[in-house]
Amino acid sequence: MRLGILISGRGSNFEAIANSIARRKLDAEIAIVISNRANAAGLEIARERGIPVRVIASQGLDREAYDRIVVEELKLHEVELVCLAGFMRLLSAHFVRSFPDRVLNIHPSLLPSFPGLDAQRQALEHGVKITGCTVHFVDEFLDSGPIVLQAAVPVLDDDSVETLSARILAQEHVIYSRAIQLLVEERVSVEGRRVRIREIEAE
Ligand code: GRF
Repeated sequence: MRLGILISGRGSNFEAIANSIARRKLDAEIAIVISNRANAAGLEIARERGIPVRVIASQGLDREAYDRIVVEELKLHEVELVCLAGFMRLLSAHFVRSFPDRVLNIHPSLLPSFPGLDAQRQALEHGVKITGCTVHFVDEFLDSGPIVLQAAVPVLDDDSVETLSARILAQEHVIYSRAIQLLVEERVSVEGRRVRIREIEAE
């Protein structure tokens, strides 16, 4: 399966996906990495690995105009699944319709708790004992589409935003590749808000 990965910054989830592919745990190939920011650290990771990159800045463009350019680039690279990995923009209806049930995002909380920015800080401030991360399909709304996989992470008494974020991130790196592999294996079906994952039948 040909992946298009959209980033805005560090790119550690992108790197984890690339590592899963290299270790043959994920049967996919990264066709293109697109960033809306020229200084995204993830771009360097992609260049070092010889993965095609493209910076598409959004200045002066409205959401739909921007998304049309991104969708065109993804189609040009024959992308079949779009993975948002720290991409700090909402997608337009045009984008979502261009890849039906084929856009994933990773979010550092157990959605629907703590959508939006600073999810780990939100969890600490709320005082939850368990938080985690979520891989979900993307619609036009913020962190709101059907949930594919989640991983729980306990909040420790002495956690700071940094220590909690680091433990969540380690889980993000595991479940994002796992979710993509489930799609590769065609084991995922979406019924309304519920995502069903077919078990592998015993031989
Ligand atoms: C991750 O915490 C992800 O859940 C959120 O943005 C962060 C991106 O980190 N959507 P990275 O760029 O993948 O390192």
